[in-house]
Amino acid sequence: MEREQLQALLADMSLEEKIGQMVQLNASFLGNNDTLITGPMGTVSVDADEVKLCGTILGTAGADKLKELQKQAMEGQPHHIPMLFMMDVINGFQTIFPIPLAQGCSFEPELAKQGAQIAAKEAAAAGLHVTFTPMLDLTRDARWGRVMESPGEDPYLNSCFAKAMVEGFQGSSLSEKGRISACLKHFAAYGYPEGGREYDNVELSERTFRQDYLTGYQGAVDANCRMAMTSFNSLNRVPSTANRWLMRDVLRGEMGFDGVLISDYAAVEELIPHGIAADKREAAKLALEAGVDIDMMSDVYLHYLKDAVEAKEVDEALIDEAVMRILTLKNDLGLFENPDKDASAEDEKALILCDAHRQAACEAAVKTFVLLKNEAQILPLAKEEADGLLVSGPYADSRLLCGSWSFPSTYDNIPTIRERMTEAVSGQKITFTEGCSLFYDGEIVKDHTMEGMNPEQMEAAIAETVEAAKKAKNVVLCLGEYYTQTGEGSSRTSLQISQNQMELLRRVSEVNENVITVIFSGRPLEMTEIEALSKAVLYVWMPGTEGAKAITDVLFGEKEPTGRLSMSFPHRAAQEPLYYSRFQGGRPRTPQEPRGFRIGYIDIEYRPYHSFGYGLSYSTFNYSPVSLDSSEMTANSRITAKVTLTNTGNRRATETVQMYLRDVSGSVIRPMRELKGFEKVTLDPGESRDISFVIEEPMLRFVRMDMSVGSEPGRFEVFIGADSTTENGTAFVLK
Ligand code: GLC
Repeated sequence: MEREQLQALLADMSLEEKIGQMVQLNASFLGNNDTLITGPMGTVSVDADEVKLCGTILGTAGADKLKELQKQAMEGQPHHIPMLFMMDVINGFQTIFPIPLAQGCSFEPELAKQGAQIAAKEAAAAGLHVTFTPMLDLTRDARWGRVMESPGEDPYLNSCFAKAMVEGFQGSSLSEKGRISACLKHFAAYGYPEGGREYDNVELSERTFRQDYLTGYQGAVDANCRMAMTSFNSLNRVPSTANRWLMRDVLRGEMGFDGVLISDYAAVEELIPHGIAADKREAAKLALEAGVDIDMMSDVYLHYLKDAVEAKEVDEALIDEAVMRILTLKNDLGLFENPDKDASAEDEKALILCDAHRQAACEAAVKTFVLLKNEAQILPLAKEEADGLLVSGPYADSRLLCGSWSFPSTYDNIPTIRERMTEAVSGQKITFTEGCSLFYDGEIVKDHTMEGMNPEQMEAAIAETVEAAKKAKNVVLCLGEYYTQTGEGSSRTSLQISQNQMELLRRVSEVNENVITVIFSGRPLEMTEIEALSKAVLYVWMPGTEGAKAITDVLFGEKEPTGRLSMSFPHRAAQEPLYYSRFQGGRPRTPQEPRGFRIGYIDIEYRPYHSFGYGLSYSTFNYSPVSLDSSEMTANSRITAKVTLTNTGNRRATETVQMYLRDVSGSVIRPMRELKGFEKVTLDPGESRDISFVIEEPMLRFVRMDMSVGSEPGRFEVFIGADSTTENGTAFVLK
């Protein structure tokens, strides 16, 4: 439809009809019995006639089902306006990709773009129109469970992944086949709750908020992301969903977002327990005035907006602007001309979990793995020595390799490490034991009673594995967190794997010095003891459908680990929140001044255990000193920084060259390192290559003392190296 037609439609709609477009319910309200429930059902009570007016539903998919739901919905709509179908397609629809935090560790935004393209094709064939991703909350506190859903702790890296993901889902036009609308979330700063406590208040100075927390979301806005979602948290004591400054002045006014703004699940109603709305009527007004277009999973808009408009407490023009944005999104998707868009049972069958998508998921997983330790180059393992290999641990034969925001219709088609490793060494016999269960039988994790071994069974399983380890040349232990220990509602004060798994590792390492530990996790964990007891550690996050194949290929050297940490790892949880781009302080701790009244702690090293950007390869690399083509620049010039990278090892390998800048002195203090560029480089043994980065004035800008954004003349340091701790640097002056 043309815009004028949309405006004519809007003008012809009743107030009830317009408000109906602003309501999203989950599919259970349409009688759908396999709805994905992703939040509390709250106090939503709606009757059949009211449901007919709702403009969007979430939580169900399937071509034929959604075609039927769309037909019914349009018949029930006075103007036969098509329904929007939305779902959390976070890291894949049915072909599950690595969690977004793992994808961030690839330092390859194109990888995330490809994953999003594949997810969009599968989801669109299943009748979906919108996904609730990318999640771009900066994550600097590993205690918070949703770190798994974000690319990580660095604003610049997040903005690169934001752009790639939005482009992957949306393409150049939403009406294209196989495209769905993306949704930047959760606006804003949900990832920094006090104490790492899920849903708690976020206290950030406006300077820090603007400096670090908006960059990722801005990347999505700049990529023309067509929807945004409010966050559950309050920001400096104002809940986002009622935060007019945040939504209208910052998101729309300053950042230029012009799409639909949807609340998070029941977040409009939750303004009442937040203590900012006395009742649903006030909640409705606050959310509408803040610019929330769609009320997800509450009946607040449905039951209270009409009265408020008729009582002249809110301006109907606010409703008209919201509905126009919703109709525009439906129109951009082409739904008025083709309400079923790409829903096709035939395409579902051809696309979902097809070989090409599985292959892409496997390649993506490989690129997210981070090799944390590889003493004596024990990895890669020799396939011909598989007879002497013992593989054990709760993940050695598990299909549960996907993150908590993955909803495969079945886990049956997710191969296990045991299956893939056995295939890989056909003819030889790898010894497999369970080693231990993730939890003791009856342990409670997120209100669920876990099944596992009882103490006697656990002891027997560990003892059996210890005996097998005595005979093995190498031992691979597959350990980690359970997938529900990260994700929404999963903040933890401990960053350790379960003690029974540590017991297995401790006792196996006593009888075999060649332990290779593979860690599954949705967050940074305490790795000190695990690495001390292992000769090699491979961090595989939650790798998705083809994670087992990817792990097998890397362990046997068919593929190389190239991941680099996109989130810092602590020595222990008490260090959180933790991130690399820290400040030097007035009393820096240096090799010359390692003790005394110096920044940090008296009981542990205060810097990260593994810092942002860290990761090993199966080869080694050498960096030449950094050279600049000029030691001075102005706002209108540029400097090129260069290093020569050499593969000093004996196998072809990939390095992620990282460039960091430091503004040595400014009107406010500036971090000691800020990532400003990265490039993945693959070199043959002995091969060298010059790697250059262009430095331009916009890269030097920051939120200055007067809150304006700009650069300031002075001395800058530029570092180019393997991770954020590199000291390989030089300096230049901005005149
Ligand atoms: C959840 C999450 C949000 C998700 C939404 C719909 O509570 O906070 O990320 O997209 O509800 O499932």
